[in-house]
Amino acid sequence: MELLTKAPKGTVDVAPGAAEKWQAVEAVLKSEAELNGFGEIRTPVFEHTELFLRGVGDTTDVVEKQMYTFTDKGGRSVTLRPEGTAGAVRAMLENGLYNAGYPVKLYYLTSCYRYEKPQAGRLRELHQFGVEMFGAAEPAADVQVIALALSAFKRLGLADVGLQLNSIGCPACRKEYHKALQEYFTAYKDQLCETCLSRLDRNPMRILDCKSPVCQGIAAGAPKITDYLCGDCKAHFAKVQEYLTALGVAYEIDPGLVRGLDYYTRTVFEFPSKTLGFALGGGGRYDGLVEEMGGKPTPGLGFGLGLDRILMALDAQGAEFPGATRCEVYIAAMGEKAQQQAFVLMDKLHQCGVPADCDLCARGLKAQMKYADRIGAQYTMVLGDNELEAGKAELKNMRTGGKVELSIGEDFVDSYLTASTAQEGLAF
Ligand code: HAM
Repeated sequence: MELLTKAPKGTVDVAPGAAEKWQAVEAVLKSEAELNGFGEIRTPVFEHTELFLRGVGDTTDVVEKQMYTFTDKGGRSVTLRPEGTAGAVRAMLENGLYNAGYPVKLYYLTSCYRYEKPQAGRLRELHQFGVEMFGAAEPAADVQVIALALSAFKRLGLADVGLQLNSIGCPACRKEYHKALQEYFTAYKDQLCETCLSRLDRNPMRILDCKSPVCQGIAAGAPKITDYLCGDCKAHFAKVQEYLTALGVAYEIDPGLVRGLDYYTRTVFEFPSKTLGFALGGGGRYDGLVEEMGGKPTPGLGFGLGLDRILMALDAQGAEFPGATRCEVYIAAMGEKAQQQAFVLMDKLHQCGVPADCDLCARGLKAQMKYADRIGAQYTMVLGDNELEAGKAELKNMRTGGKVELSIGEDFVDSYLTASTAQEGLAF
């Protein structure tokens, strides 16, 4: 039975109460993206597995260890998206979004799936807000996406988010760097974990990102990419820093920051939360990815923020969110006829956008009033035979206890709206 009453490991439900927090955070992120000219893209939850092998890289932890991959009934290998970038690139190419001119600016709010060991801040179904920009090679583009994320953190009231920055160069400068890494790590061959050993020839930079404490210790002394940057990459990185300074943004250069996905080139960054001790998001440039996926050479860049982690950070600092108004007026009723009339009046209020409720559980009057109190109704009305006969009922202000008489005939909605607005000012 546990399988029926317990959600799969690493997944969470968002119920009313918590959902309002998510909506508030999503609204800020969406508005920040739109303010910067990004339009929403929605892509399928599953894609051809090949897309992620090519896009994310087959020596990454995400591809090697974490993908939810299965064969569908037609014998095709498909994968639940572990991240949003590869799908956004595919959708941009497939839908010819570049025809409208560069830069193409996309954002998404989406769920992603990674088979990870669940722990604080690590889920198997995670949620990301991401932006992707295509066709902008200038360092100012890097700074626009970074500033967008920082501005969103600020608007959300997250004060403890830092910015770590690095440049991991382009394939040209990385050739020399890979050689230096291979030389360095070969001396520690007998101490590296099995995964890192397998990456030594194929992609030695991945070793810098290994979670094993032994490999991390060895990686700490490895050559730094920043010493191998070519002239163009160096100039690009310097300009990014210049623009950040012009915006007054504080940052820390972390030469060990390489990110966990293979597509990055040049600028990479993460937003660590000092309170939580892990990153709320990260991203960077991926100037080779569009071409790798079959498009014309097109620069690209973006970031992904973990919504689950942003919510954790807000909870950790005790942020308050306004609750939703689920019931402005509760129409209680005694007797079958009154019950039906209450239902009709509730429907009239809904049509005018007023959150209204009435009994659906055959409760007695006392229980109905108790329920109205529990759901936070601002006003209540009671309908019985007398009210139906008179065509009038009393509207009670639950905060002040004051009452006014309302028509429950044709002019019910007008009469309710006048009375409820008047109550705000007159405190009857
Ligand atoms: P990522 O660093 O793998 O980058 O993920 C971005 C963010 O998603 C992380 O910083 C974290 O907040 C959240 N996240 C990742 N895995 C988990 C997990 N298992 N549980 C909870 N939260 C998680 C990307 O996904 C890139 N696509 C970002 C990007 C977009 N780069 C360029 N464009």
